[in-house]
Amino acid sequence: MSQAPATSLQDIISHAKEYGFVFPSSEIYDGLQAVYDYGQNGVELKNNLKTVWWKAMTQLHDNIVGIDAAIFMHPLTWKASGHVDGFNDPMIDNKDSKKRYRADQLLEGKAEEYQAAGQDEKAQNLLNEMGRLLSADDLAGVRELIISEGIKCPVSGTANWTDVRQFNLMFSTQVGSVAEDANMIYLRPETAQGIFVNFLNVQKSGRMKVPFGIAQIGKAFRNEIVARQFTFRMREFEQMEMQFFVRPGSEMEWYQSWKEARMKFHQAIGLPTASLKFHDHEKLAHYANAAVDIEYQFPFGFREIEGIHSRTDFDLRNHQELSKKKQQYFDSEINQNYIPYVVETSVGADRLFLATFCNAYTRETVGEGESQKERMYLKLHPALAPVKAAVLPLVKKDGLAEKAQAVTQSLKSSFRTVYDDNAAIGKRYTRQDLIGTPYCIAVDYQTMEDDTVTIRHRDSMEQERVAISELKSKIGYEVAMERILEAI
Ligand code: GAP
Repeated sequence: MSQAPATSLQDIISHAKEYGFVFPSSEIYDGLQAVYDYGQNGVELKNNLKTVWWKAMTQLHDNIVGIDAAIFMHPLTWKASGHVDGFNDPMIDNKDSKKRYRADQLLEGKAEEYQAAGQDEKAQNLLNEMGRLLSADDLAGVRELIISEGIKCPVSGTANWTDVRQFNLMFSTQVGSVAEDANMIYLRPETAQGIFVNFLNVQKSGRMKVPFGIAQIGKAFRNEIVARQFTFRMREFEQMEMQFFVRPGSEMEWYQSWKEARMKFHQAIGLPTASLKFHDHEKLAHYANAAVDIEYQFPFGFREIEGIHSRTDFDLRNHQELSKKKQQYFDSEINQNYIPYVVETSVGADRLFLATFCNAYTRETVGEGESQKERMYLKLHPALAPVKAAVLPLVKKDGLAEKAQAVTQSLKSSFRTVYDDNAAIGKRYTRQDLIGTPYCIAVDYQTMEDDTVTIRHRDSMEQERVAISELKSKIGYEVAMERILEAI
């Protein structure tokens, strides 16, 4: 048996669509760029990922609680957070092809080329120079760097570039029914600010003591200049963020410990250690004094799935200034008032979904000689799989269908179980493999005599005979979220 990893993002996109995981948004109208819908299996997998993250934060930690803040927020929120003035991407257009690019991504692409050619030092120097120019807001310098590196537009093949300009990524809309009364507001570009503005509400109502955290899962919106690579870069997406409020001066210790904890989380949900790495930021976001990404090796290379930032007291201090409401905490242990510092962990639910999906996508050649064939399945952690068990009667007659339906019914309340009697049993196994169902339960003639069934394991395809009375506990144990939480 030999295994081949997913070879292209196209394989992933096709599989996701064909088996009900991800569809292009409003496809009958030819879709909407960088917006996607989750199908019947995708929503289950995504919900499972969100649940395990939520539990890892709020159930495994006594000092982390969750909230669910609104998407719309007072417009001053985004002034205080720095997003109105600083949430920009540098864009550049090619005059011949009229195509628009992110200037930093063009340079990063060049650095990747150097790396691929074994010129690591050259790559690093380029990234450092880019970081320096962007931090100094030297956009003319960024353009010169693109030209001096000989970067050409992949469409026109020319280096006929416009100036580099900053482009704000926030979407705006209006509230108020009468045009004159209407106020411009933004769709939140990160969920974090809903946490910051509720910091004191949660601290006081929950009598929380620093250090403590607030977690949230919710939609965020960004008008990405270049939206590509499927659900990796979307204009509407979901974030899972946690702000951890700490005593000033202790933030670097917490930053280190959250770095490790978050890496462990990704390993526990089944992403292989070799496909994950840390990547320190060359260019720090406007609010951070230290920042690292956790990257996953997608079919298109190592890319960020999570950001861990030490945000200092930047956000709370600015909210205090603009709102004129004190954002201070009284620390009774040291008898001092202060604005807490914040360490943030921020993972995209859609990127985590895509990483999990790419990692699960497995192609194997099974059998020998003439009977050799290719087999496809999704090797998802059993706790994350959309369907945990499928009950399949060998045939529909002689009471086997009714027996299988009764088995399905008995398992449904414990974990997601489906019944399928349509087509030959081999085909039904394949159907379940393709959506990642870890256990298929076959009801056959022996079942009618001794109340036993076979469990067929997705990855090994091995079968074992067990009593129906054992199914709930046996499968229930394997598919429980606890298995992941215990490994974190
Ligand atoms: N509050 C901090 C923050 O928003 P970020 O690095 O800009 O930091 C955090 O975003 C995470 O959100 C990223 O690691 C990524 O997983 C996800 N994310 C950001 N932009 C995204 C996009 N356009 N599409 C999908 N996910 C995105």
